[in-house]
Amino acid sequence: LNQLLFKDPNQPPVVFHWFPFLGSTVVYGMEPYKFFNKCQEQYGDVFTFILLGRKMTVTLGPKGNEFVFNGKHADLCAEEAYTHLTTPVFGSGVVYDCPNHMLMEQKKFMKFGLTTETFKAYVPLIKDEIVNYFQTSPFFSGQSGKVPLSTAIPQLTLFTASRSLQGREVREALTTTHADLFHDLDMGFTPVNFMFPWLPLPHNAKRDRAQKAMAKLYLDIIARRKSGEESKKEIDMIWNLMNRSYKSGESLSDLHVAHCMIALLMAGQHTSMATTTWTLLHLAAKPEIQKALYDEQIKVFGKDLAPLTYEKLSELQMVNNVVKEILRIHPPLHSIMRKVKSPLHVPDTNFVIPTSHFVMAAPGVSAMDEKYFKNAKEFDPFRWVGHEADEDNAEKFDFGFGLVSKGTASPYLPFGAGRHRCIGEQFANVQLGTIISTLVREFEFSLPPGQKDVPLVDYNSMVALAMAPAMVHWKRRGGSNH
Ligand code: HEM
Repeated sequence: LNQLLFKDPNQPPVVFHWFPFLGSTVVYGMEPYKFFNKCQEQYGDVFTFILLGRKMTVTLGPKGNEFVFNGKHADLCAEEAYTHLTTPVFGSGVVYDCPNHMLMEQKKFMKFGLTTETFKAYVPLIKDEIVNYFQTSPFFSGQSGKVPLSTAIPQLTLFTASRSLQGREVREALTTTHADLFHDLDMGFTPVNFMFPWLPLPHNAKRDRAQKAMAKLYLDIIARRKSGEESKKEIDMIWNLMNRSYKSGESLSDLHVAHCMIALLMAGQHTSMATTTWTLLHLAAKPEIQKALYDEQIKVFGKDLAPLTYEKLSELQMVNNVVKEILRIHPPLHSIMRKVKSPLHVPDTNFVIPTSHFVMAAPGVSAMDEKYFKNAKEFDPFRWVGHEADEDNAEKFDFGFGLVSKGTASPYLPFGAGRHRCIGEQFANVQLGTIISTLVREFEFSLPPGQKDVPLVDYNSMVALAMAPAMVHWKRRGGSNH
């Protein structure tokens, strides 16, 4: 009754709920998009719901995306929204456990390690890791078989990202004793930790031990390099971070280098693993898209399929369109959050959001809206044909539906926008492009007999994953099918 009678016209409508603290936590947590769509129908683009006692004001649509992503730091703050989840995993003093201007500098340092030069070196390394995986993984022995993507793909993306972005020594450590450590650390990066940071969960103790041990792995590498013990100089992200300094003149401490490396590992692993899995599932469901991808390989690399290179990757329009379309239907991050720091007016409404609230953007909602994408539910990479020129600037993309988007007011923002925008987009494209190309050259995929469509989404993870085991059948190109 309270909720119905005492509505404040200057505040967004509150989603109806029975229990004060719990609010809409369960419905939101189980199927966020279903919840967002239902609320949008009932309340419009701006509404507030209760997430474990926190007041979350959701702003949907291109304008809503812009409102959250483009907010000034003085008004909207990311660190207060995320730090309780990320700091125990990444470690102290970096990303959301430092003033925002330091994060901005750390992102610049990381970008120095994400250049065309490094990408050129990464492509053959990533390809070698994939080929090695096929040769050694029991899931890919013989001429045909089936593979549970939920098990195989996390391994593949971890090995490829660590061999390239993290460097040789980290890759070598991850196959030996440190694989368990990574697992323990990863278990501390879940929605349960996000929602109940104060719960003394048994895996939190493991997470804390794993965080220290992972940091030590990096610290040992740094110490070896500083002592000159390393005979060959490795030009990788660790080297890059060791050689950067803040505007103040101070360089990154060894511990902060280690913590930045853990943050990069976590940020890239979950997003890439989810995207690769969804790509293979949709390809398995649509053989005609696999054929288009294979034909493109022949066209660009010749009948004998010359080795992949970074330069050639950018010519693979079909690969790029597949990745774009997967990120439209399955953006790994469904909810982007900020804490409100000063009362904020929502443009084109009467609403002023008070400082007791958080705001939330969900660009995945507009990316699946018929208003902006015809047959929005359909996986159709060809919808991007002719829009390739906009590739580097998706947020300025005019989708051909009469929408002229300016700045960040776009319906399609899988990598975010504004000051917190992703720095890993190009690396993700290199990693995904190399994985897709290598897989398509080697295999044909199909869904298990009788399964008509890709699996449902599992929201019990930090990213929108495919429900396990996400099985697909494969056969080698030119091989027999038994
Ligand atoms: C930020 C998505 C891969 C590192 C973000 C944000 C999104 C995103 C939506 C904005 C978060 C916010 O505004 O709160 C993705 C997707 C990826 C991907 C879809 C792959 C398909 C990567 C990779 C790396 C990375 C590979 C590392 C190399 C980062 C970093 C930030 C970020 C450092 C900045 C966080 C901030 O400023 O608060 N990413 N990401 N991401 N991402 Fe990614």
